[in-house]
Amino acid sequence: MVRTAEIAITAELPGPALGNLAADYPIRVRKDRGLLSEAELSAFIGQATAAITLLADPVTEAVFAACPELRIVANYAVGYNNIDLEAARARGIWITNTPDVLTEATADLTWALILAVTRRLVEADAFLRAGSFIGWHPQLLLGAGLRGKNLGLIGYGRIGRAVARRGRVFGLNVRYTDPIGEVEDRLQTARHIPLDELLASSHILSLHCPLAPDTHHLLDRQRLSQLRPGAFLINTARGPLVDEQALAELLIAGHLAGAGLDVYENEPKPEPALLELPNVVLLPHVGSATSEARIAMADLAVANVRAVLAGNEPGTVVRPA
Ligand code: DGY
Repeated sequence: MVRTAEIAITAELPGPALGNLAADYPIRVRKDRGLLSEAELSAFIGQATAAITLLADPVTEAVFAACPELRIVANYAVGYNNIDLEAARARGIWITNTPDVLTEATADLTWALILAVTRRLVEADAFLRAGSFIGWHPQLLLGAGLRGKNLGLIGYGRIGRAVARRGRVFGLNVRYTDPIGEVEDRLQTARHIPLDELLASSHILSLHCPLAPDTHHLLDRQRLSQLRPGAFLINTARGPLVDEQALAELLIAGHLAGAGLDVYENEPKPEPALLELPNVVLLPHVGSATSEARIAMADLAVANVRAVLAGNEPGTVVRPA
């Protein structure tokens, strides 16, 4: 008997892509929210030929071993640190991600965080709602200006460059360092400088590099201490890039002026000390959360699955470095 390829999708996705896919293939969509363990993910994928997974789904060798029919895992994210790429390669399983379509949304959200922390927006909103606004005052809720300051970027890929372009419009000097070295930048939006110099000179430091074994705690306690006093840290990339406990301690000590975080070391739980700090803005991993971006991500993930099921190479393949 010839089996029809079945597709397991670990969350409902916005837009028409899944509905259209269901017209051509049997699909199973996970309705529950919350994290999946390896065993739960394996049980959910089961005998499916293709899976569309989320960024926290642990797509490991154990999952591949338990799901022998799998031919493609289409990760619904640009990041793929949740996937064992070597194990996938060894088994001939395609892995894809969703680059490009979320670049501008994530860069916009990065800027929302930069403005929120430097201009104390969340604090100001809470102040007004608490009934504390009794009239305009020259010293009320003063923030930090941007023009002429240094914006440092760690990671100068698609999203880093989109953040840099916005930085120039705000009158910042934009500098970057990138794990792969100097990146071609014909418009010269940003200048490449070594990491130590970037840490010491940035008024605002923003992370845009992938999480991998060599970037885990890229900002450890020592590097966080190298940031210039009064700097702001922004992270819309991945939480484990930063030693979050050390970050909380440096904020409490007043070494850093504030932080804007969209991602967490032990997601979905932020370091408890951060919850107490008024100069920290905490978002629930919404960097790409626009309808446009999320629908386009679904279209891309589904297109990759369709390509493999039709016997073709998918469009946005990720391979081990
Ligand atoms: C990603 O795509 O990796 C983001 O973290 C979520 O869109």
